[in-house]
Amino acid sequence: MRKFAKTLTVLAAVATLSLTACGRSDSDAEAAKAGTALSGFPQDSVIGVALPKKTSENWTLAENLFNDGLSKAGFKPNVQFANNGVSEQQNQISTMITAGAKVIIVGAVDGAQLGTQLQQAKDAGAVIIAYDRMLTNTKAIDYYVAYDNFKVGELQGQALLNGMKAKKPSGPYNIELFAGSPDDANSKVFFDGAMSVLKPKIDDGTLKVVSGQADFTKAVTQDWKPENAQRRMDALLSGSYASATLDGVLSPNDTLARAILTSAKSAGKPTPVVTGQDSEVESVKSIMAGQQYSTINKDTRKLVEHAITMVKDLQQGLALEINDNRNYKNEFKRVPAYLLPPVIVTKENVKTAYVDDPVLGPITK
Ligand code: BGC
Repeated sequence: MRKFAKTLTVLAAVATLSLTACGRSDSDAEAAKAGTALSGFPQDSVIGVALPKKTSENWTLAENLFNDGLSKAGFKPNVQFANNGVSEQQNQISTMITAGAKVIIVGAVDGAQLGTQLQQAKDAGAVIIAYDRMLTNTKAIDYYVAYDNFKVGELQGQALLNGMKAKKPSGPYNIELFAGSPDDANSKVFFDGAMSVLKPKIDDGTLKVVSGQADFTKAVTQDWKPENAQRRMDALLSGSYASATLDGVLSPNDTLARAILTSAKSAGKPTPVVTGQDSEVESVKSIMAGQQYSTINKDTRKLVEHAITMVKDLQQGLALEINDNRNYKNEFKRVPAYLLPPVIVTKENVKTAYVDDPVLGPITK
């Protein structure tokens, strides 16, 4: 078992364990029991699913999967997107409480801003599951289900190194760093995961961040908006790469990766090695065409499926399957978590990575 501790300022989601998808120890079961009252509830109950803005394809996929999967299991799904931001999501959660939701699954716009509504939900007897993004600044959270997002960052950092090495066997390499939206609790986790791989190489001179913008606060992309990433990349290229060559860019997801590649192309620069995440259709095509270097496969179907399994177990009053009971905590409590393993995808394995994916399978054949 690999253990990796790291202090993260936002979440204190401090480590990743290598995951055995089915491991369930006694202590895990105990903590799961401690997480909530396991008394069960009627099978036709309302289940709330509060999703954030549609900033990437995974969220849109999740909407349909939750609606279908919850309906099939006999529940009444109430799935909402908060495209207008935090106050819309707060109102949606309040509406779910009024509708009598027994479980509320939350993919937060800003996980630190929902404490009041989540506490009201708990007071009304609902169980709260943080989905993909951790909920912070509240003790009104029972479980967390997500891909291992620190591992996502590590894989991105390693892919960036591998991609640059394949193009140019020895360094130094000029790179730039992009992070996600600062209100998304995952953004710092991805960045810290990547920096656990890249920072030693920056320190020993193998990598050079030519702009000097190597901090999370400098690298962030407000609202995960591609136009913000593109604007920053334009400025970096004109400001720091008039004569230097940009070898690689750490991009936290596919939407931003494509914006970064567009910027390099418009500036007439050679294609840098650019990482990504989410296995978005356009990015998978770009990888096959030798443009974007890598993405991450975090199959949304599996994540939603596990979230629904949690709901089913709660409905029956069963202990939940938890595989990380130690490493996920917010300012108030340790949160029993179920983590799935992310997979790196490059041109090398793109043909085998999505064989059972109904959309990406046919594209990558
Ligand atoms: C998700 C990523 C996604 C990003 C932007 C993150 O919280 O984990 O998969 O790319 O949000 O939507």
